[in-house]
Amino acid sequence: MNFLAIETSCDETSVAIFTDELRILANVVASQVDLHARFGGVVPEVAARAHLQQVLPTLDEALRQANVKLADIGAVVVMNSPGLVGALLVGVSAAKMLALTLDVPLLSANHIEAHIFAARMAAGRDIFPCVGLVVSGGHTSLFHCQTPLEFDLLGGTIDDAAGEAFDKVAAILGLGFPGGPAVEHEAASGDPKAYPFARSFLHEDRLDFSFSGLKTAVRYALHGHGVTKGPPPEPGPTRANIAASFQQAVVDVLVAKCRQALRETGEKRLAVGGGVSANKPLRLALAEMCQSQGVDLFIPPTNLCTDNAAMAAVAVEKWRAGEFAPFDLDAVPTYLGNQ
Ligand code: KG4
Ligand code: ZN
Repeated sequence: MNFLAIETSCDETSVAIFTDELRILANVVASQVDLHARFGGVVPEVAARAHLQQVLPTLDEALRQANVKLADIGAVVVMNSPGLVGALLVGVSAAKMLALTLDVPLLSANHIEAHIFAARMAAGRDIFPCVGLVVSGGHTSLFHCQTPLEFDLLGGTIDDAAGEAFDKVAAILGLGFPGGPAVEHEAASGDPKAYPFARSFLHEDRLDFSFSGLKTAVRYALHGHGVTKGPPPEPGPTRANIAASFQQAVVDVLVAKCRQALRETGEKRLAVGGGVSANKPLRLALAEMCQSQGVDLFIPPTNLCTDNAAMAAVAVEKWRAGEFAPFDLDAVPTYLGNQ
């Protein structure tokens, strides 16, 4: 049984084809990075328009790579929440059109649950129950994941998401967009101990995050205390040291909160997903922590960490349970938890 899945929540148009046994036949991602780079961030209207232009060519390419015909598709999946509403609507409309035309069931998938399920896909075996960390441009949340579709929220960011902080710090340092990979690259030649940036909530019981203050601290480190504006630094040790110290502060907090969540839930498995989990120092630090705690760590390879449609295979679970989506399915911009 072949599933065709569509993802258009932010700035990647993606179409995947996978089987009910979770074998990925194609996972095509058309990135819009170049379109948004000159604005220094994702522009929602530009993203929606680009999805409209890209969704059918991406679909054709996925069918070609999978060597599958439309007639061989048994169900259509769309990630309808959370994300930018105009962007999501393109995927939702395309998926409805396809399911209606092919006369096959429509299924919905939640982008957050899908990011954790990407770790399950990569592992090739069951990973539930587990603690799940979704760390992306829009979310930094810890969950107790009972099953692929039952998540209890343990904590989340009260302001910026970790990926958003990477993107904003990259802009402050003049490193361009998207910020995560650029900061990681810059940090590689810097000293992570050069600037003692605060680690928010590190010694508090709560499992929440805050990254907005860290971004301000980076500005002060660069321009002087209390000064929030100024030109980006020249390439050199100061820029590299700030990038490395910022990255270390984010990594320290993420790792400490994962350790705390594992302790509180008693789980021995940690699954991590979302674009920031592509960050190598984060992956290394999580691996060390998990090893010391006797915890199994599941992080997918980079192409399954960042936005992609294959992770929508979480909907195979819904298909097994006969939980199909109605044809008046809506795009839902915010994460509403278990539906
Ligand atoms: O999951 P994702 O592709 O899209 C959202 O659902 O938001 O995550 C994108 C975020 C961006 O903020 C990007 O800067 C960040 O993930 N990111 C990284 C790295 N690669 C992507 N952050 C840190 N280090 C990286 N290597
Ligand atoms: Zn995402």
